[in-house]
Amino acid sequence: MKVVIDRLDHYGRGICNIDGKICFVKNALPKEEVEIEIIKEKKKYLEGKVVQYIKSSKNRIKEICPYSHVCGGCNLGHISFLEENEFKTKKVKDLVEKFSNVNSSLVRNISFLEDGFYRNKVVFHVSDKKLGFYEENSNDLVEIDQCCLVVGEINALIPDLEKLVKVNDIEEITVRVGNVSKEVMVSLKGEVTDYSTIIDKVDVVVINDRIVTSKKSILSQIGEYKFLVSPDAFFQVNRNVTEKLYDEVLKNVRKDHSSCVLDLYCGTGTIGIYISKYVKYVVGIEVNKMAVEDAKRNKELNHIHNIDFMAGKVEELIPSIKSRFDTIIVDPPRSGLDKVTLENIIKINPGTLIYVSCDPVTLARDLNILKEFYAVKYIQPFNMFPRTYHVECVCVLNRK
Ligand SMILES: C[S@@+](CC[C@H](N)C(=O)[O-])C[C@H]1O[C@@H](n2cnc3c(N)ncnc32)[C@H](O)[C@@H]1O
Repeated sequence: MKVVIDRLDHYGRGICNIDGKICFVKNALPKEEVEIEIIKEKKKYLEGKVVQYIKSSKNRIKEICPYSHVCGGCNLGHISFLEENEFKTKKVKDLVEKFSNVNSSLVRNISFLEDGFYRNKVVFHVSDKKLGFYEENSNDLVEIDQCCLVVGEINALIPDLEKLVKVNDIEEITVRVGNVSKEVMVSLKGEVTDYSTIIDKVDVVVINDRIVTSKKSILSQIGEYKFLVSPDAFFQVNRNVTEKLYDEVLKNVRKDHSSCVLDLYCGTGTIGIYISKYVKYVVGIEVNKMAVEDAKRNKELNHIHNIDFMAGKVEELIPSIKSRFDTIIVDPPRSGLDKVTLENIIKINPGTLIYVSCDPVTLARDLNILKEFYAVKYIQPFNMFPRTYHVECVCVLNRK
C-alpha cells in the first residue's frame, strides 16, 4: 500500500498511520511517499518495509556504506548530516519534555564535528570463518571489508583479521585503537592457536580475557592528558567530540582553591583528571577494577596529586560519603542513576550537579526526580555517535 511518512521515531524509523494504527517503517523519511509491505502486525502497532520510493525527501542522501540496510549499524546513514543533527536535538527536547516536564527551550542545539570514521573501538562477529557484523536483531552475519563508522586503523587491519579467522575458531574480535598513539589492541574470543598473522601489526593481544603480550594497555589522549586503557575498561569512542564534552563539563565546575568534586562512574579517571588542575580535590568512583587501576596509573602519568579513586559500586559507596562536595559529576551507563544514588546525591547537596548521559530516556527519567531539588540550567546534546540514533548529553543542574 502507498503511505506518506509523517515523522521519525526516536530510533530514526519513519512513522505513518494506517487505519488509526501506528506503523513503523525503516529507511523512510518525513514527507516521503512510499509503497510498503506490512511485515509485522501487532495489537498496538504495525511494521512496514519499503518496496518502492514514490516521492523521496530532499533530506535523503545516498548511503556511503554498502551494507547499511542489512547491518543496521548506521541506522541514520540515509539522512543528511544536517537533518541528523536536527533530529537528535529534537529527540532530546521531546524526551525531556515528555518524561520530566523540563522546558525543552533548555535543550541547546546539538554540538557536532565529523560524520564518519570516528569510532576507535569495534566488535566484529565471526561465523563460518567469515568476519562481519550481525544483521540487526539477528545472528546472521553480514560479511564486510570496510566500516564507515570506524577509524582508518581498524579498517586497515580487516584483511589481517580475515586471515586470522581462517586459521582459528574465533567467535568475536574486539579492536581498539589509541586515539593519538595509534596503538592497537585486539581481543579474541574462541579457540585461538595461531595469531602470527596479526602479532607484528598490533600492540596488545587478549585471548579469552587473558593478555598474551608484554604490553597490557593502549595509550589514548584527550586534550593535554594521556590515558592508559586496559582491555576491559571503558573509554569514549569518539575522541574529538569527547574533548568538546569534557570542556563543557569543565566550564561548569566551580574553579577555585576550595572546590571539591565527586566524579561518579569515573572509568579510567578521564573527567576527574581533565578538570583536576582547576579545583582543590577530586574523588572518583568506579566499579571496574581494571579501570580503577588504569585511573591510578593515569594520575601518575599526568603528574596529578589532587585526585583519588575508589573501587566499587557507586550505590554501595556513596551512602558512606560524609565530606562536602561542591560539584558532583555523574556519567552512568545507559541505565542511568539508581534510587540509592539519586537519594544520596540529593543528601550530599552539591551546588552543581553535572549529568553526562548516553541515553536521554534515562536522563529525562532521573531529571523528573532531581527537578524538585535542582533547577536545570541547560542540556547540551553532543553528536558522539554520528550515523546512529544514539545521542550523548551534558545536563547542568543548580541547587534550588
Ligand atoms: C559511560 S562510562 C563513563 C566513564 C568515564 N566517565 C569516561 O568518560 O570515560 C560509565 C562507567 O561506569 C562504570 N559503572 C557501571 N556501573 C557502575 C556502578 N554501579 N558503580 C560504579 N561504576 C559503574 C562502568 O564500568 C563505566 O566505566
